[in-house]
Amino acid sequence: MRVEKSFLKWVGSKNRLIPQLLPHLPSGKRFIEPFVGAGNVFINTNYDSYVLCDKNRDLINVYEWLRDDLASLLNETKSLFDSRPDFYDVRAQFNNVTPKLSLQRAAEFVYLNRNCFNGICRYNSSGKFNVPSGKYKNIYFPKSELIAFSNKLISGSVELVCTDFSTVIKTAKFGDVIYCDPPYVSDINNGTFTGYTPGKFDAATTKQLYDLLYLAVLRGATAIISNSNNPLIRKIFSDFEIYEIDARRSVAANGNRQPAREIIGVLTPEMV
Ligand SMILES: C[S@@+](CC[C@H](N)C(=O)[O-])C[C@H]1O[C@@H](n2cnc3c(N)ncnc32)[C@H](O)[C@@H]1O
Repeated sequence: MRVEKSFLKWVGSKNRLIPQLLPHLPSGKRFIEPFVGAGNVFINTNYDSYVLCDKNRDLINVYEWLRDDLASLLNETKSLFDSRPDFYDVRAQFNNVTPKLSLQRAAEFVYLNRNCFNGICRYNSSGKFNVPSGKYKNIYFPKSELIAFSNKLISGSVELVCTDFSTVIKTAKFGDVIYCDPPYVSDINNGTFTGYTPGKFDAATTKQLYDLLYLAVLRGATAIISNSNNPLIRKIFSDFEIYEIDARRSVAANGNRQPAREIIGVLTPEMV
């Protein structure tokens, strides 16, 4: 199958897992993505209506410009890529000068994303983007990917929301499909909860996610989650149907005895 690629490089991108993920996504009235990230699942699905949410304001800002004014975003981004400014100059401008929500900030975000180390998106406690340069020789300008993403945003009903996952999950109702791809929690404590670290996406946050999804499924929605394959996650999502998936499996199907790295969990209204 042909898998569409996002214009962004993103840590935790589901791009390579799309063929294994799609069969687990049921049809539904509305597709809700509380952790949309680079939107790889959004651009490879075909629902009538979407709610795309992420708590990253810069990310949602780019999506808003792509929805509202593709031509201006393409011009601004292309001239930035063509002039090949120093990565650290753009980063300083982005952090200290460029107005929030501006077209320029959207273009700079795409430039930083394509140039930074491994497409990591990280901010310090003062909200400054602090990822170093990836020192790439050739930087790809993702023109066709930007256009495809924009077309998808305007082709149906798409609501863009910048908020915490909890807010959008609480809006889910009968017939909705909620796909969650949160930051992964490793099993550092062998499956036991050890409390809550403010601001971190940890076991307690993942448990909160489970609780909200369970309530949404009681209201008639279907919940699907991606996560890492470890005992802690399996314990939190124990009443979900769990499927193991792994991008490596498609190239080394035989004799691979390593456990799959990822799981997909599904909870339908019939199961609660
Ligand atoms: C693993 S990425 C999603 C990748 C996406 N599925 C893709 O394939 O492109 C997780 C996303 O969750 C977002 N995020 C982290 N904590 C969040 C929160 N509390 N509420 C909403 N979004 C959050 C991050 O900004 C990040 O974009």
